[in-house]
Amino acid sequence: MNTSNRSDIFTKDNIAEYMIYEAIHARLGDIVIAQLNILDPCCGKGAFIFPILKLLTKDIQSGHCTWEDKRLNSFLTAIDINESYLNELKPKVLSYLITHSCPENRALELSNAWFLHQDFLKFNTDLSYDIIIGNPPYIRYDNLTSDQQTYYSNHYHTFSGRSDIYVPFFEHALEMLKPTGCLCYICTNRFTKTSYGKRLRSLISDKYHVRLYLNMEHTQPFETEVSAYPAIFLIDNAQGTSTFAATIDNLSDDTLNKVHINKQSEESILVKFDQWFSQDQPWLFTSLESQIENDILSAFPTIGESSQDINLGIGIATGADDIFIHCGMPPEIDETHLLPLAISNDLRSGSIQWSG
Ligand SMILES: C[S@@+](CC[C@H](N)C(=O)[O-])C[C@H]1O[C@@H](n2cnc3c(N)ncnc32)[C@H](O)[C@@H]1O
Repeated sequence: MNTSNRSDIFTKDNIAEYMIYEAIHARLGDIVIAQLNILDPCCGKGAFIFPILKLLTKDIQSGHCTWEDKRLNSFLTAIDINESYLNELKPKVLSYLITHSCPENRALELSNAWFLHQDFLKFNTDLSYDIIIGNPPYIRYDNLTSDQQTYYSNHYHTFSGRSDIYVPFFEHALEMLKPTGCLCYICTNRFTKTSYGKRLRSLISDKYHVRLYLNMEHTQPFETEVSAYPAIFLIDNAQGTSTFAATIDNLSDDTLNKVHINKQSEESILVKFDQWFSQDQPWLFTSLESQIENDILSAFPTIGESSQDINLGIGIATGADDIFIHCGMPPEIDETHLLPLAISNDLRSGSIQWSG
């Protein structure tokens, strides 16, 4: 499946649990979870909701709070634009609460208070959040309704050019964080390098702090196999502190155990960066070796800068190579319409060896 409209791809349980651990316990230690305000802006079928409720019921079972605690009314906000997911999820949550000793009336009250059928990008509240966690949808600009295109463009600075809906999902969540809060998304990493991601990268480096960037672009963290270039992002307000990053190529428990920020040991494969990329610079690497290589390379001019005679472009993308690309000169085509074409293999020897 490609990623042009990847709105309904659900997160695997072990990944959701890893993210919740990093967002809550790795940062806050053993706190009473009932005192937090947690938001999942696109909860789908509840990949993050049940692990969160598991933590809450643990607190209740150990006597740290009760089901009647008023703070629970705003403990969780779970939003989805797709009402059918909420209709499926709410009864499951209701029965989970009742099975875990919550009185029936209170369980009904909580499950009604926690779930909202709404477009997250049109959701506004006076509440701010300790933890915002989720797996935002990807919907390309062209696949949004014209109402959404207009509304999002008017309300979100990062939604520029042919942006994707996940970009303003970052912006809106970041503006809803408490000063000590943190955003934890599993999402495509495309904005870290693309031109449409520039405004989001600038926003993050100007006002926030990347605590964790876990690149998992060669793995499958979702229930359905997709080529989505996924990564986990943990972003908070702690500007000036280190960033931890790594690229992992599998999602085994053993590997996930080596990427916990608060469990830095010889086993850890997280790399600590004292400074992360500034302004709208692309996030180019997650290892110190690549950083050194990049520093060395940036001391030299690029090929394009080294001579005025060289103009570099992105090459050609025909969409129908059989029609546009030919070996030799087809006699029926006027010579003035033909251009020579060198492909990367033609350049490998160091001089051009035309293959066509
Ligand atoms: C990639 S799925 C993730 C679901 C779930 N969080 C998980 O990880 O399993 C994205 C979810 O976003 C919802 N969604 C799409 N557009 C939305 C919007 N504008 N506001 C809120 N939810 C939206 C979809 O209905 C879908 O459930």
